[in-house]
Amino acid sequence: MLEPRERLAFDLALLAEGGSGLYSVVEWIAIAPHVCTEILLSAEEARVLGEQSPSRLVALDELAVTCPRDVLESLLEKQLLVAEGDEAEARDGRLRGTHWRAASAIMHSASRWHGVDTAKVARDFDAQVEGNVLDHLGPPPPVVREHVPADRRQVLPQTETSAFDQLLLRRVTCRNYDRSRRLALAEFSAVLYRTFGARAVVDMAPGVRLLKKGVPSAGGLHPTEAYLLVQRVEGVEPGLYHYHPIDHALEPIRILSSSEAVELAHRFVAAQDYFADAHVMVIPTSRFRRNFWKYRNHAKAYRALTLDVGYLSHTIYLSATELGLAAFITAAINEVDIEEAFGLDPLEEGPLAVCGFGYRAAERREVEFDPLHVVWPE
Ligand SMILES: Cc1cc2nc3c(=O)[nH]c(=O)nc-3n(C[C@H](O)[C@H](O)[C@H](O)COP(=O)(O)O)c2cc1C
Repeated sequence: MLEPRERLAFDLALLAEGGSGLYSVVEWIAIAPHVCTEILLSAEEARVLGEQSPSRLVALDELAVTCPRDVLESLLEKQLLVAEGDEAEARDGRLRGTHWRAASAIMHSASRWHGVDTAKVARDFDAQVEGNVLDHLGPPPPVVREHVPADRRQVLPQTETSAFDQLLLRRVTCRNYDRSRRLALAEFSAVLYRTFGARAVVDMAPGVRLLKKGVPSAGGLHPTEAYLLVQRVEGVEPGLYHYHPIDHALEPIRILSSSEAVELAHRFVAAQDYFADAHVMVIPTSRFRRNFWKYRNHAKAYRALTLDVGYLSHTIYLSATELGLAAFITAAINEVDIEEAFGLDPLEEGPLAVCGFGYRAAERREVEFDPLHVVWPE
């Protein structure tokens, strides 16, 4: 995708002529999932790129008859033209072979972070708006979208309070974990099993195996893997693991020292310290090829992957809450750092969120949204 992006530049000569010295520059930015970084293009490069076939290999000499050779070579260097047999062609081929919808691949690629520190981003924003965040944002849209006046609403019968209501009430996103205790192995195991564990393995057709789980999944494909960063769990060494949903077992990927585990936890959640303290992080990671095997180049497939992660994360919350544990989810994550740590190929597998759970601390250091004082007394 080519995006025209505008930025302000400064020219002393314009200042000397009595203006502000500022002028606007419009640049072409290419977002290409097989390259993984944004690429600046000249107007000429953008024009030449737009004239090329996205599917047919053409001899360079043939292209050079109508296009400037230096522009073609620059596009090859930027990997936006791919040459037969080169690394960029292989990556482009893998992307196509995974059956990504182009717009979804761009969306996914453009939303991945590397080394982002959200605390610094928040500080910079605060400085930019000089502390007047609400003045800057203005009021939010109203809390409810009302279509008719109150006297025209059909009021529904009250619901009798059930054990499920009590469970939902106790679900409060936790930003205060107990750093002094290890999580009991049985509790750790139960949350993983209830969320990700397979209840049945069904052979639907030769080579087509489906898992039945406690959560729904688009097409029944369950393409979401659970990667774990364990910090403090009884009987499990700190480290990176993959959860095997049929064997209900941990697959060790890398054993870590406690300090390495802390450092990676911070990095994964983009420096949100309060989440980095969780006893265990679960990283729901989509295996794109598994879903796109059925939903090829499909307009809804990527949306379905993100919805699948919503069910899983909420089941982590509810399973943890039922056991008296506390949980979180965040979408503000450094995907690239997570992929590197677990050795994942971003064209094949992508973390879409980071969840975590453990024991809530006795003392509240960070804010939690508990207006009914269910977990924190007044
Ligand atoms: C998709 C999603 C992303 C979230 N990302 C963050 C986050 O980056 N940082 C954070 O502190 N909380 C995050 N949360 C938690 C929300 O802030 C929290 O759900 C909300 O404040 C309501 O509180 P409750 O969950 O206790 O009801 C996220 C929640 C969801 C569902």
